[in-house]
Amino acid sequence: MVRIGTPLSPSATRVMLLGCGELGKEVVIAMQRLGCEVIGVDRYANAPGMQVAHRSHVVTMSDGAALRAVIEQERPHLVVPEIEAIATATLVEIEQEGWTEIIPTARAAQLTMNREGIRRLAAEELGLPTSPYKFADSLAELQAAIDSGIGCPCVVKPVMSSSGKGQSLVRTPADVEKAWSYAQAGGRVGLGRVIVEGFIDFEYEITQLTVRAIDATGAVETYFCEPIGHVQVNGDYVESWQPMAMSAEALRKSRDIAKAVTTALGGRGIFGVELFVKGDQVWFSEVSPRPHDTGLVTLATQRLSEFELHARAILGLPVDVSLRRPGASAVIYGGVEAKGIAFEGVAQALAVPESDVRLFGKPESFVKRRMGVAVANADTTDQARQRAKLAAGSIKPIGS
Ligand SMILES: Nc1ncnc2c1ncn2[C@@H]1O[C@H](COP(=O)(O)OP(=O)(O)OP(=O)(O)O)[C@@H](O)[C@H]1O
Ligand SMILES: [Mg+2]
Repeated sequence: MVRIGTPLSPSATRVMLLGCGELGKEVVIAMQRLGCEVIGVDRYANAPGMQVAHRSHVVTMSDGAALRAVIEQERPHLVVPEIEAIATATLVEIEQEGWTEIIPTARAAQLTMNREGIRRLAAEELGLPTSPYKFADSLAELQAAIDSGIGCPCVVKPVMSSSGKGQSLVRTPADVEKAWSYAQAGGRVGLGRVIVEGFIDFEYEITQLTVRAIDATGAVETYFCEPIGHVQVNGDYVESWQPMAMSAEALRKSRDIAKAVTTALGGRGIFGVELFVKGDQVWFSEVSPRPHDTGLVTLATQRLSEFELHARAILGLPVDVSLRRPGASAVIYGGVEAKGIAFEGVAQALAVPESDVRLFGKPESFVKRRMGVAVANADTTDQARQRAKLAAGSIKPIGS
């Protein structure tokens, strides 16, 4: 267990967040409430999480030397990656040196930042059901992969990307060239490698939030939140709700898959396991070894949000994954390209029954940038979705 001291004193429990977006911001707040000293790191100044951390650093976290320098400078007890685009090889080295702890593990961060790492682990080592897939390093290889088995429709994604960047659906062979170029432009690094996945005609998709935390005996136990349903548009989440109604069999399979993959990744903390469901059939899609964007709904629905669960699990404290009340979340997009925007309609949004909002405080807005989220509760998730969408839709970002 991590002993909690006094922030800004020699006894402080120092926690460094690598990534200070909206999810990192909530983790920082949860850590602050538990008495930790929190250091925020991101690639730009005034990132949301930095605004609530004790102090912060602007660092290119994909640069291994720069990442090592800031971790050595601050010597945190815990390093908590909140984004994928990090020099994870450096985290592996630092973990081996043994003077700080990487959450949940450096290997988990490394495997999940690359679709190839996590897919091979899940499908080939653990034998979990996934879409059929192949990797390709050129247009010709991609073409061959699709012709020789994957078929159409299929989905092409850069191996390193998130939020749907560079990802496209190939409906017919005529779309392949476009999908290849799109993936090249959208990948995090100009690596070229893509994964092509057979299209899964799922009924719905869920996030199974899964927590690895210390139980009463001092051992790591796996806990499952109620499943979260969500809607994705162009690979980006726009709404989520909890609980998602599903068959007992599909839920059991989802949790078996979640348990297998999170046990293989190890460590302590929360994981967002993404699954596709059709009837009683379940496919593993991917996993975040950290809070999940669709889990923003837990700010309204659970006794402890996914961020509080992450903080507790990381610190070796007991968790409680119980649902308090059904609820939903709806994303508030920037809608404008501007710095220092203002929000109109906040009062109208908060007049919606059982609603709440988070405005992230990002310094710059883009049309499709997530600038806030509305959450709401109700007796049913359907009603909560209506309320969350009404609240989100009431808020109008205004450029100056
Ligand atoms: N093989 C597939 N079959 C059907 N739909 C898919 C497939 N792969 C991805 N999708 C759809 O695209 C969405 C985004 O895919 P994925 O999670 O792999 O991308 P991502 O860039 O990691 O997105 P995010 O970072 O938002 O999780 C999925 O949630 C799903 O709706
Ligand atoms: Mg995803």
